[in-house]
Amino acid sequence: MPWFEPVSPLPARLVVLVSGSGSNLQALLDASRIRSYGAKVVAVGADRGHIPALQRASDAAVPSFVLPVADCADRAAWDSALTERVASYRPDLVVLAGFLKLTGAAFLARFGGRTVNTHPALLPAFPGIRAPADALRHGVRVTGATLFVIDTGVDTGPIVAQRAVDVEDDDDEQSLHERIKKVERGMLVETVGQMVREGYSIDGRRVRIGR
Ligand code: GAR
Repeated sequence: MPWFEPVSPLPARLVVLVSGSGSNLQALLDASRIRSYGAKVVAVGADRGHIPALQRASDAAVPSFVLPVADCADRAAWDSALTERVASYRPDLVVLAGFLKLTGAAFLARFGGRTVNTHPALLPAFPGIRAPADALRHGVRVTGATLFVIDTGVDTGPIVAQRAVDVEDDDDEQSLHERIKKVERGMLVETVGQMVREGYSIDGRRVRIGR
């Protein structure tokens, strides 16, 4: 059973990958201002330019890079290039925070077990990139947010944390997603901090934080 030691010395080095507004990134940037949090964002990577998340990185004086798939010969070359860029910042943990690309075999070989992804639904329900809309369409009364360790599938990896959110009668996709994101940011900050401070193990599909 893989056991990931608490990071020592703290603060742990986080590389955060983004594709959009970056409010989850911002929550990590804000948390890491407090020394006792135990983690700091050392770099932000994106698969596209001109997104608010990159401005957030720049405002926080955190280095960033942009690596579009279209700049690489094929998807495998992009995955290898992404792996090298991320590795150059020597992360203890990689956080996919609204990163709308699937990482591939090279990335998983290097960062498997050390990469978490945040998702706006209670997995295994509603994987993919339209989870709040899919939850509304299905008519569920409760949805939420999930933090999981990536594997080779689409939103299929071992689950680290989940938070529930009620669906209201008058919700549309945007209102539901915004309410999920509030809860999601708290879950992300709290769980990432615990993982680096206390260590964690992955036993099949079960993730346990601390000894
Ligand atoms: C978050 O809700 C995240 O879970 C979702 O994108 C949003 C990004 O928000 N990711 C996915 O849907 C991936 N399947 P943010 O850019 O404000 O952090």
